[in-house]
Formats: sequence, C-alpha cells, structure tokens
Amino acid sequence: MLLHTIEEVRAEVKKWRKEGLTVGIVPTMGALHAGHLSLIKKAKQTCDKVVVSDFVNPIQFGPSEDFDKYPRTLDEDVKLCNSEGVDIVFAPSADEMYGEGQRLSNDTLTYVCPPFFYVNTLCGKSRTGHFDGVCTVVLKLFNIVQPDYGFFGQKDAQQVIIIKKMVKDLNVPITIVQCPIVREESGLALSSRNKYLSEEGKKDALVLSKILNNLKTCYSKGIKDVNALKETAYSFLNEKHDLEYLEIVDKDTLEDKKQADDNSIALIACRVEGVRLIDNIYLKEEV
Ligand code: PAF
Repeated sequence: MLLHTIEEVRAEVKKWRKEGLTVGIVPTMGALHAGHLSLIKKAKQTCDKVVVSDFVNPIQFGPSEDFDKYPRTLDEDVKLCNSEGVDIVFAPSADEMYGEGQRLSNDTLTYVCPPFFYVNTLCGKSRTGHFDGVCTVVLKLFNIVQPDYGFFGQKDAQQVIIIKKMVKDLNVPITIVQCPIVREESGLALSSRNKYLSEEGKKDALVLSKILNNLKTCYSKGIKDVNALKETAYSFLNEKHDLEYLEIVDKDTLEDKKQADDNSIALIACRVEGVRLIDNIYLKEEV
C-alpha cells in the first residue's frame, strides 16, 4: 500500500498494534536496488509488518550535492516492494515531513545533532551537516512509525554507527539491525549512485573493493601497522580515482588506531567520474 501522509501511516500501524503485531522499518531514499531488497527480506523475516520509507531527504544534502539529480523511481520502487510483500511504502513530500513551506534550516527546525567526534570524521568531514540531516529524518520516521526494528545497510557504516549512538543516547525504543553489504559479482558495492557511472566508470570503481580486499589480505598476513596498511592502497589508484579518504578505525566507536586489530574496519571514499562512492570492510570477518 502506497501512503503519502503521516496520518495514514499512523492509522494503519495503530490497527497492527491492536492485533499485537511487530513492525519493522526500512528507511530508504528510493531508487531501490538489491541492497535495499536484502534489508526488506531481513525485515520480512524478523517482523510481522514492514514499512519502507521512500523519501529523498533534502536536509541531508549539502548545497553543492546531488539532491536535484538524485534518482527518483517511485513507481518501480512500489512494484519491487509489492513483490517483496512490503505492507506500506511511505513516500511523503518534504512539506509533509517538515511542515508546509517550512524553511529547511536548523535556524527554524529542531535538528538532531550527533556528537562532534562521530560526525567530524570520514564522510562527515566533507559533508557538513549530513549526519544531522540523517539523524533528524530517521528519528522522525521512528516517531511516525514507532517500529520495533529498524534495518540499515553496513555499506553506510558511519551512518549505522551514528544511528545506533542516537538510539542509545536518546533512549529510542527500537532495535537496530545491521545487514551486510550487497555487491555485484565484480565486487562493486551496490549503491543508488552507481546509476551515474558509465560502463567504463563502473570498472574504474572496482578500485574501492580491490583496495579493501587487499587490506584484509595484508592484515590476515600479519601487517597490523595502520600506516603500512594504508600504503598498500596507493598502487591501485590512478588519475581516474580521486581518493577522499582511506581510514582504519574501530568498528563500533570510529576511533583511530595506530595498530589494526580484529575490531577494525577499513573505510574508503573515492570519486570516479565525479561520482562519490563509499565502501568498507571488516578486517577480520569473512567476505
Ligand atoms: O541511507 C539512506 O538512504 C538515508 O541516509 C536514510 C537512512 C534513508 C535517511 O534519509
């Protein structure tokens, strides 16, 4: 069922709650791909009822980012959700989410601000305010749907860590379920932004997963020094790759490390054909 208003969603969820059913939410910005479908499948296995939100959230995009050209494919998304047995696709307008004609700024709206340490690193360094926008919309969705479970992909590792922190710090009564990255056979992590890449660009984009897999191999062979590990990446890069960051940090706290250990995660952000791509890998876990 496709719903556009908060009131309609609340009314449906209220009926489910009367029947004692459990509810899960999969927050998305639409342009659904197999990565999203894996979250939806997990939600279906875990909960009686599943809500997918489909909303390109304006307040998590910076002024020079791709908000206007971000892919919007609602009709296809709804078909996919129907075929997966999703109970509600919630596709609100920005006016519905933030108030009609509301100026979208933290001068006029209440925002959720995650701790400085969590946002002033990795993606947050180049995307000022991004995680405030993410946490604000996610908390609003949690308040609208009041789900038992929220499903997020490990592909956006920093985002999941920050959302878990928000849930803990603000006592939000929800369990966050983190689902593994889904990749193309080539190794490229699925992302709605892959749509911007040419065939050639997709090949060049394999550098992210290649660097990460190589780091994991090096770690398994005993290289623990973070600088030495990072050094191994540079030979993979050429003029088609604009590396934004490559970091090895603690997978739960994002703290920097000098020596990698079994709790380490390697994260990379790199532009290919001007498209900003991210990926990550746990140094210890199986691929
Ligand atoms: O990961 C995303 O697609 C978005 O950041 C989210 C969680 C749906 C919030 O808009």
